[in-house]
Amino acid sequence: MPSSEELHKRRGAAVARGVGSVVGAYVDRAGGGTITDVDGREWIDFAAGIAVTNVGNSAPRVVAAVREQVERFTHTCFMVAPYESYVAVCEQLNALTPGGFEKRSALFNSGAEAVENAVKIARHATGRPAVVVFDHAYHGRTNLTMALTAKNMPYKHRFGPFAGEVYRVPMSYPLRDGGLSGAEAAARAIETVEKQVGAENVAALLIEPIQGEGGFVVPAQGFLPALREWATAAGVVFVADEIQTGFCRTGDWFACDHEGVVPDLVTLAKGIAGGLPLAAVTGRAELMDAVHVGGLGGTYGGNPVACAAALASIETMHELDLAAAARRIGATLADRLRAVAARDTRIAEVRGRGAMLAVELVQPGTLVPDPAAAAAVSAACHAAGLLTLTCGTYGNVLRFLPPLVISDDELARGLDILDAAFG
Ligand SMILES: Cc1ncc(COP(=O)(O)O)c(C=O)c1O
Repeated sequence: MPSSEELHKRRGAAVARGVGSVVGAYVDRAGGGTITDVDGREWIDFAAGIAVTNVGNSAPRVVAAVREQVERFTHTCFMVAPYESYVAVCEQLNALTPGGFEKRSALFNSGAEAVENAVKIARHATGRPAVVVFDHAYHGRTNLTMALTAKNMPYKHRFGPFAGEVYRVPMSYPLRDGGLSGAEAAARAIETVEKQVGAENVAALLIEPIQGEGGFVVPAQGFLPALREWATAAGVVFVADEIQTGFCRTGDWFACDHEGVVPDLVTLAKGIAGGLPLAAVTGRAELMDAVHVGGLGGTYGGNPVACAAALASIETMHELDLAAAARRIGATLADRLRAVAARDTRIAEVRGRGAMLAVELVQPGTLVPDPAAAAAVSAACHAAGLLTLTCGTYGNVLRFLPPLVISDDELARGLDILDAAFG
């Protein structure tokens, strides 16, 4: 097997430079809470492929279901010749997502595609054009989702012009908004919409219940419920982007569940299918079914192999109670991070929920972001064999997203590395 160094050379001559990687090690195999590279080195995985392998890499049920499906058929296109597993995934999503009302789902390939389709559905159903999004939001890299995403570099820089009718309003960011309550932060956002857009022009309000790429920003309690209430009164479709937060990651099936917020539409991807590409929009039947026949779809959306993987992943989440596992992992992680924060004044805040946790690094005694410190701690983690990620508008947030099947021993070893990396 070629070494990482050899592969890196080949990559330089074959793969576009615009596609980056966090580490230079190339993967041979992965499972549980570890990844083994082609040089035989084992890494503790605190990334889960960016919150995707919640059930672990090559989870046994997923492998069996994929094998069985691949042998039966690999693709017919649901829009041409449909099959049961697509219907079964939609049934599961309709039952699992918040809200006891009648729902429908449609399946796609990527998170960005799900978000694009949620906007299409909301616009079609309301007959209104505008979409409201938030500071620090991340919704993808396609043309519409670049417009919905806040951060310029690296996601948008020189890729415009972007789609229109997208309006950005302030987020609730407790560390950085002077301690506004959830209700106050919501009132600020709503006032911006009403003054600058007009509620009657708004098709959808799109929000990550806990922001992902933007820095694991957890809004103040009451922010999401207040926005939900306003959207209902204004006839605006409330879309929760649960692409990073979904499928047990935050210690419940979905992050909206924590405050009992019930979205009209939910976008789903990442953790849905144990690593196979699948995404969905799930929501109120009357909105979803407002779209004419043939208005939604795509060649690969709801591919049968990905659907088999999703059904097996969801079964695994039930069987292993991965929501409880996320709460347990989160408690262990948070304890250790708070202990580090008590001695390291660069840590302004430990935040997140369940197994979606982060620390925000600043220059001590200020709120001035310190991306160099985040990069240095990351580099120390990588050198010691712990795969971690950074995020945040200012690039100063270290985030931790272990697979929810990580063992206690793997978690402890990862935390020891992390603790030492701060030193
Ligand atoms: C909240 C959120 N929405 C949308 C996306 C885009 O998903 P994808 O990369 O599958 O297009 C992401 C990916 O990180 C995400 O975190």
